Order: sequence, then structure tokens, then C-alpha cells
Amino acid sequence: MKENQLLLNAQSVLQNNWKNGFTIPCEGLYPFQWNWDSGFIAIGLAHIDLERAKQEIKSLLLGQWKNGFIPHILFHNKSDSYFPGPEVHASHLNAHAPKLPTSGITQPPVLGFAIEAIYDISNETEKTFVEEVYDQAFLLQQYFYTQRDPYDEGLVYICHNWESGTDNTPVWDLIWKDMDSPNYELNRRDTQHVDAVNRPSNREYQHYIHLIELFKEWRYDDTLIAKNCPFLIQDPLFNAMLIKSNESLVRLGKLLGKDKEVAQLSVWHQKAITTFNSKLFNEDKGAYVYYDLRNRRTIDYVSSSSFAPLFAGIATKAIADSIIKTHFNRGIFSGKENELLLCASFDPTSQDFDPKRYWRGPVWINLNWIIYHGLKRYGFKREAEQLKSDTLYLLEKFGFYEYFDPRKEVVEGLEIGYGGNNFSWSAALYIDFIKRA
Ligand code: DGY
Repeated sequence: MKENQLLLNAQSVLQNNWKNGFTIPCEGLYPFQWNWDSGFIAIGLAHIDLERAKQEIKSLLLGQWKNGFIPHILFHNKSDSYFPGPEVHASHLNAHAPKLPTSGITQPPVLGFAIEAIYDISNETEKTFVEEVYDQAFLLQQYFYTQRDPYDEGLVYICHNWESGTDNTPVWDLIWKDMDSPNYELNRRDTQHVDAVNRPSNREYQHYIHLIELFKEWRYDDTLIAKNCPFLIQDPLFNAMLIKSNESLVRLGKLLGKDKEVAQLSVWHQKAITTFNSKLFNEDKGAYVYYDLRNRRTIDYVSSSSFAPLFAGIATKAIADSIIKTHFNRGIFSGKENELLLCASFDPTSQDFDPKRYWRGPVWINLNWIIYHGLKRYGFKREAEQLKSDTLYLLEKFGFYEYFDPRKEVVEGLEIGYGGNNFSWSAALYIDFIKRA
């Protein structure tokens, strides 16, 4: 399909998913406002409708709690096509929560760099907007570094797999193995919209719900969660997004003369980068991995999250070289004969790799966008171009699906992508790939 036609299609996806002030990720499957989706969506919207891009961010900020926390779902509207809804999350149990019902868990903090992208795409005309949202974006960083870093390391934890954004990556199997969650009766709706083989299993969902039930018992109190939660992970993608947002807010803060905020962000930033490299880089794997703070162990699995730190400038040149040599350009993630499209979401050589199931193998457009910018940042032009052309190939062949099979041979014979269709961030980031990248 011609580029122009596809751009028009991308615009209509965003148009159709716009619900009076915010954009749903996907009709039916995700019918509310989602946190990190909104950040990516706002970046795409900035190219076609700046007012909507700004509105998207402002709607997200309506869900901010008094302590700075921003939840992963905002229930502005009613819908019975999704489980678990507002009554399951019950955010009112926490005194910081706003009146607007939200979830009580969060998602990778893309807010800071999404605001910076809107400013850049506007040709630096949107300073007033940056001024309007800056303090709230700063508060979010402050929340993480003061409430989610119990040992004062500069790395924050996540306490639920939905916070990672990579919901069912095989990395979490190790945590579920030791959890004895009850057999909740589930009222799943996702498998009514999408083939169950592409989604997490029922047993996994019982663990997801069990964690929410524990949080409700603890009224979403961060101290109790840090002390008792069986899922407590320092995740490379999540921390990289936070660090990238530090960097963006330092730049924007200088512009606004926010000296105190800039000084504080710079302290968090430096400390975060130092610990990130000493604690999460694994030489044997040639990649950043995970740390399980509850069980005090490294989980040395490699996923697409392992490459996100390039985007935030965390890696030294030597680390970046080692990542590229091991994983890209006939490395593990491109396949020995380059038989894989970049970038699988989980280690393709692992027995747990599943090219069809959500975050256990398929290619995701937002991770490709993050890794593409990381590769460019370090000057890996050829690999960046490969990643971009694989991304455009998938979107041009299938349209704006949620995720895609990474196996070239299989993709040739397929007619559709996986998961939801007309998926907002796939459309939004296509627009950004074409107009800016
Ligand atoms: C889902 O429902 O699958 C979402 O990813 C959780 O936020």
C-alpha cells in the first residue's frame, strides 16, 4: 500500500479511537484510557492535531493521585467489554486517589519524554503547554524515586506484571511458579475479542488478579507492598523509560527556569545510570536483564526490554557494542541467517519463546520505536535502518495490528497480524516513523 494511503488509514484509526478527550488503545479490547498507550498516541497525534495531543496528556493527568502516582488505567467512561474493570481495581481504597476511578498500579513512565516529543514536533512553539504540565510530570518522577526505591539505589521496582507493560513475558513465569494464587472465577473479556492462543493463560490471569486482591487488602499502601509483595522487580524497560523521562524533563526544566527541579532530576538521573549499569548489565548475555528484589536474585533472561536502555543513553559505548554484536545483525534476535524480523519480544533461542503469544515472542511497534531511537542514538545506522524497514514492512503488509509474528517465513504466508486490529499506538508510531524518524 502506498505510504500516503497508509498515513490516512493511521489517522482514521486515531480518529475512530478518540473518545472526547482521550484515545482508547483498541475498540472492545481496551476501551478506557491507558497510561503508556497515551504517551505514544500523543506523539503520533502531535503530527496531525496538536490540540488533541495536548488534550491526551491532560486527560492522563486527571488520573494523577495526590502523591504523584499515575495509574495504568483511567476509567473516564463506562464499558463492559473489559475485565478487570473499576470495581475490581477499587482505587478509592487509597486516600491519595482522585474521584475519577482508576487502577491502583502503573505502567512504564513515558510521560516526560512524550511531553518533550510534543514540544519538538510543534517546532518548539508549545512552551505554554510544557509549562502547564511540567510540575505534574516532575511529581511522577518524584513519586517513583521516593516511594519505589526502598534501598535508595536509583532503581525503582514494579509490583505487578501489568506495570512492566510486557504482561506475560516468560520472565514472570519464575515468579508465578512460587505463587499459590486461588482459582478465582474469571470473567475474561479479552478472549472474546482475540484468539485465546495469542493471550495470557487463565492461570496467569489468576496470579494477576491475586496481586490486585493483595494490594486492596493493603489499600495500595506502598510501604506494605514493598514489604510483602511477592512480585517486586527492577525491570530494565520500566527504569529506562523513567531515566529517559528524567533526561527530557531536565532539558524542558532548563527552558522554563525550573532550577530546583532540574537539580533534583539530575541527581536521580546520575545515580540511576550508575546502578543500572552495575546491577542490570549481564556480560554473559550481552544485555541488560532483570533483578528480583523480593528474592534477591538476578533473572538473566533477555527480552526486547533488554535493549530499551539504549534509548535513554544508559549504556557505555562498550556495552552498546556488546549488545549489538550479540543480538542484532545475525545475532540472537535477528536469527543466524537473519531469518527473524526485528525485534522479537523474547529471546528467540529460549524454549519459552512463543512467536504468537502476546509478550512471549511477537514484535511490538512501541518497542521497535524505542529500540530504533536507541540504535540511532549510538550511531548503529545499519541496524536502525533494518529495524525501521522491518517495522514498516509489517505495518504495510498487515495494517495496524497490536503485535506480529517475527518469523519471516511464516509472515510471508500470513494475512493478519495478532491481537487487536486498529490499534492506536501502532498507528500513532507509524505516523511518527514516517514524519520524523
Ligand atoms: C490487558 O488487559 O491486557 C492490559 O495489558 C493490562 O493493562
